[in-house]
Amino acid sequence: MKIFTTKKDLQQHLLQSGALNKTIGFVPTMGALHQGHLSLIELAQQYSDEIVCSIFVNPSQFNDPADLEKYPRTIAADINLLEQVNCDVLFNPPVSEIYDGNEHWHLNLGELENLLEGKFRPGHYQGVTQVVYKLFNIVKPDTAFFGQKDYQQFLVISKMVELLNMPVKLVMCPIKRDSDGLAMSSRNIHLTQTDRQHALVLSKTLNWVKDNFEKGNISRLKKEAELMISAEPDVELDYFEIANGDTLHPADDTSIKTVALVAAKVGATRLIDNVMLADGR
Ligand code: PAF
Repeated sequence: MKIFTTKKDLQQHLLQSGALNKTIGFVPTMGALHQGHLSLIELAQQYSDEIVCSIFVNPSQFNDPADLEKYPRTIAADINLLEQVNCDVLFNPPVSEIYDGNEHWHLNLGELENLLEGKFRPGHYQGVTQVVYKLFNIVKPDTAFFGQKDYQQFLVISKMVELLNMPVKLVMCPIKRDSDGLAMSSRNIHLTQTDRQHALVLSKTLNWVKDNFEKGNISRLKKEAELMISAEPDVELDYFEIANGDTLHPADDTSIKTVALVAAKVGATRLIDNVMLADGR
């Protein structure tokens, strides 16, 4: 695997791939890689000739400096994993390579920016779109791959691509779960064994809602789900929503594309998860 830390070196390499007419698949990450990330690389390999993975812990998407500080950084292990799955290129720039210290970014992301995650993490999606825009412009991928776990992030990035007319196809990849059902996340590193047990209420509740979606009344399901999660010790619910899968507005109709999304603090760690309830087709 080739590793680049500067835009110039990466672009020089990619120009050669372009000249060879290779299609580029891009998997942007913040590192602390797990099986979920590797599944993105593996899917990318089915679509593209050359795979670029980026590892960059993006300061502009953290609204809490303590959260940025404690975000796991495991670069040696990450490189090892990427080599195991035959990733072609790793882009691992320092902050100064991406930001020149004099940045202004604001995109009109509409209501998507302020709902659910947006409400709990003000400014987060401006930071995400800012860095993904920069990374897309550096890598110029044909296709970029993102996990379904960050469902709202996928919608926001799709909106940015549409607004700015960017020539990249986006692919959403299924959530990877541990055998107990916990959605894989870089943040799981911070869970104690007890936290992990408590955290299972999130996937269990999502599954329960999925199993009961056809027969259930949406507002009753949502209330039951909130009660189930709130009853779990050391789990502080931020939101549980059954939402329109395109707009993330609360769903009022089981025939549309529908997703259930949850965010909660488990001990000191904030987790998110979701499940598709209906594809609206
Ligand atoms: O999903 C992530 O890991 C990050 O939000 C992303 C897309 C790499 C942007 O920093």
